[in-house]
Order: sequence, then structure tokens, then C-alpha cells
Amino acid sequence: METSFSLSPALTKEERYQQFIPLLTAYIAGETEAISVLANVSAALHEAFHHFWVGFYLVKDAHQLVLGPFQGSAACFRIRRGRGVCGTAWAACRTQVVPDVEQFPGHIACSSLSRSEIVVPLVQEGEVVGVLDIDSDQLNQFDETDRLYLEQVARLITQTVSLR
Ligand code: SME
Repeated sequence: METSFSLSPALTKEERYQQFIPLLTAYIAGETEAISVLANVSAALHEAFHHFWVGFYLVKDAHQLVLGPFQGSAACFRIRRGRGVCGTAWAACRTQVVPDVEQFPGHIACSSLSRSEIVVPLVQEGEVVGVLDIDSDQLNQFDETDRLYLEQVARLITQTVSLR
């Protein structure tokens, strides 16, 4: 199956997500290999939205997030619970929308290019099992529209594969 996630540049952000979600839903339906699904979801988000870093951190041994599949430059391997934007999303079990990373106390700068960021927890059986992290090289790139649709992406992933 060949699916292109390259969307028309003329679309608004909301329209892009509205086209993206059904494409992604059909694309990953029935796949049971978690790493493969995460790899393709990061590739699809990168192709559709062009942010410079898109990827996953997965909870390991209850204390740390460990780098999973991603698109972008090499990143930190491990993040402790409560640390940085990712560790905060995990500890709070809540999406973090960060318009300016320099204003976020404890932000972990894996890349000096990062200016704004959104981190969405992946929740399975009531526990955070990982996070979806997206970084932009421009300020103020993420808002409630991203939160709404990326939380749908997170639910789609956790309904499709086991991350525990
Ligand atoms: N900025 C993140 C670290 C991960 S990188 O952005 C890929 C944080 O503060 O948790």
C-alpha cells in the first residue's frame, strides 16, 4: 500500500489535520508491531506538517523516558520523569503546549534549533506509556488545534498497538 502524507500547502492547519487523521487511521489499521507503527506515524507527521523534529519517547522501568522512533536530528536518549517538557507531560499526564521553549522552566534543549514544542502523553490502561514530541524551529507554532488533533493521533496509536 502506498500512501502519501504530503498535503496541499493551500490548506489551513485544521484542514490538514482533517485530511491527515483518516489517512493515518487507514494506514496503521491492523498493524500490531509497535515500533513500526511509531516509526511510520513520525514519518507521516513529518511529511504532512514539516516540523523539524517529530518523535516518541517511551516509558522504561517506570523512571525514565527513552528515545523511540523519530524524524529529525539526533536527540537525547533519556529523560527523567518530571524533567523537561516531555517529563512534565508524563508526570502531569497532560499535553504541554510550549509557545517559547526558553520560557519553559527546565526545558531540555536537544537541539538549539527548537523554539516551540508540543508534547502529548500516550496513555494505555490508565498509565502514561510514552509521549509524542514535536519541535518547531519557529516560535508559537502549536495551539489548541494541534492539541485536539494530536491527542486523537495519540489515542489512535494506543488503540492500535501495545506500548506496555
Ligand atoms: N525538549 C524536550 C526534549 C526532547 S527533544 O525536544 C527531542 C524536553 O524538554 O523534554
